[in-house]
Amino acid sequence: MTSSTARRPTVLISGASRGLGAELARIYAADGWRVLACARGSVSRTGEADRFQLDVADPASIEALGKALAGVAIDVLINNAAVRGDTGGLSTLEADDFLDVMRVNALAPLLMTRALLANLKDGKRRIVVNISSRAGSLAEGTLDDDDGDYAYRCSKAALNMATVKLAQDLKGDGISVLSLHPGWVKTDMGGSDAVVSVADSAAGLKAIIDRADLAASGSFHAYDGRRISW
Ligand SMILES: NC(=O)c1ccc[n+]([C@@H]2O[C@H](COP(=O)([O-])OP(=O)(O)OC[C@H]3O[C@@H](n4cnc5c(N)ncnc54)[C@H](OP(=O)(O)O)[C@@H]3O)[C@@H](O)[C@H]2O)c1
Repeated sequence: MTSSTARRPTVLISGASRGLGAELARIYAADGWRVLACARGSVSRTGEADRFQLDVADPASIEALGKALAGVAIDVLINNAAVRGDTGGLSTLEADDFLDVMRVNALAPLLMTRALLANLKDGKRRIVVNISSRAGSLAEGTLDDDDGDYAYRCSKAALNMATVKLAQDLKGDGISVLSLHPGWVKTDMGGSDAVVSVADSAAGLKAIIDRADLAASGSFHAYDGRRISW
């Protein structure tokens, strides 16, 4: 095989329309990767990427993506799409909002991993990245943060268990599963007071993913490499 026919490493990113997902798509493309940029609407700022329509809240949309990508090897799956939901605390907690957040932030990464499992097994790197949040850490999430985002915190805590359980189940297939915290990032979700630029966060996350191996599977790290307690 010549270099011109060698398969480029491939990353699939959900929620690539804006924010961190768009920047991850951009830097992977700039690094020569094939990028499968998924979004429920239009995808912007992704450089050279293959674009796919994906609403992670809809299991049928996830299944359709899996079918559309049959036979396509995927090296890295980044489950990035997420919503914040209500932030008003216990008094404004509302059942439908809570369940909507759980569906997007916790359930969808599991369905995505299952739908794309054959693709990951065909890949060389075999890595699933769940973009989590320190806000979902039982040990650290409330240390310096008293936001009343019950749904979001619970969804990211559930996502962290999904990471640990998937790491256990997929170890035999040589697939590593990571929870990564991007920092408090200047995006629509993070807001203008956030302290980390999208560029720094995405670069830090990519560096961690680049060096990840099976020994790192089932771990939780921040974009700057710091290990986060569950
Ligand atoms: N920003 C922070 O400070 C921070 C801190 C900790 C963790 N995180 C995590 O980092 C990740 C990226 O967040 P961000 O700051 O970039 O957020 P963002 O700017 O709000 O972007 C969220 C992305 O998720 C997509 N999305 C939401 N619901 C979706 C659905 N049902 N189907 C498909 N895509 C959907 C959005 O697509 P649309 O354009 O279609 O809405 C958008 O592309 C998330 O997992 C978030 O929880 C962020």
